[in-house]
Amino acid sequence: MKLFKDKEESLNSAAVPSHIAIIMDGNGRWAKKRGLPRMAGHTEGVKTLKRIARYCGEIGVKYLTVYAFSTENWKRPKEEIDNLMKLLKLYIGDFKKDGNVDNICVKVIGDVSRFPDDVQKEIADVMEITKDGTSICLNIALNYGGRAELTYVMRKIAEKVKNGEITADMITEQMLSEEMYTAGMPDPDIIIRPSGEQRLSNFLLWQAAYTEFWYSDVLWPDFKPEDLDKAIADYNNRERRYGGI
Ligand code: FPP
Repeated sequence: MKLFKDKEESLNSAAVPSHIAIIMDGNGRWAKKRGLPRMAGHTEGVKTLKRIARYCGEIGVKYLTVYAFSTENWKRPKEEIDNLMKLLKLYIGDFKKDGNVDNICVKVIGDVSRFPDDVQKEIADVMEITKDGTSICLNIALNYGGRAELTYVMRKIAEKVKNGEITADMITEQMLSEEMYTAGMPDPDIIIRPSGEQRLSNFLLWQAAYTEFWYSDVLWPDFKPEDLDKAIADYNNRERRYGGI
């Protein structure tokens, strides 16, 4: 059952969160259940990402931020890391081959300087190809960690203090927000984690101060627009008080 009767109803609805963030978890378990290599789960995970990004654009979500590779994922076997890089290149290759069919704007958040040069080049290309996309802003978090992001921001601000551009007492929350990878974007309204886990796992630590958390037992490759509808319906039943009464 779709949450909205039609596209027009969803686009006119204040009920649609403007920023959704997703921890795309459960690819490995999806593959294991089927006796397939883990990579098969990641490949299906990319298909789900495409489907969900398109759906979010259709219903009027403005920002979708997905956790694709964390600062902790370097602990995985080299083969899996290499294959994830290949998958990322394939995903970007589709934009080069087919154009920006879903009219999305891709932005990568995280420190990609540790990625191989060819992957960094592909990342720069996809951001250039999609920079005028108006349907949705898709933030892909790569070599991203909330603590690493905060450290990066603090270093930048410390440099400003050192250079005499600002004094320490001029540092504000607003200033930190403007230095984050997500500068200029609203904080996520809801973070979705499929696959039954109920942890934040170092995702958007600064930005998630008042974010609603929603989890589901569905594994990411099986996650459907209908599951997103359920998350949005639940979100609409929550009362967000931001510390007030
Ligand atoms: C978590 O599942 C998933 C990841 C660490 C990677 C997510 C990546 C993708 C969906 C594909 C790559 C993305 C792009 C944009 C090309 P897991 O492996 O931890 O699953 P498990 O907990 O079931 O083992």
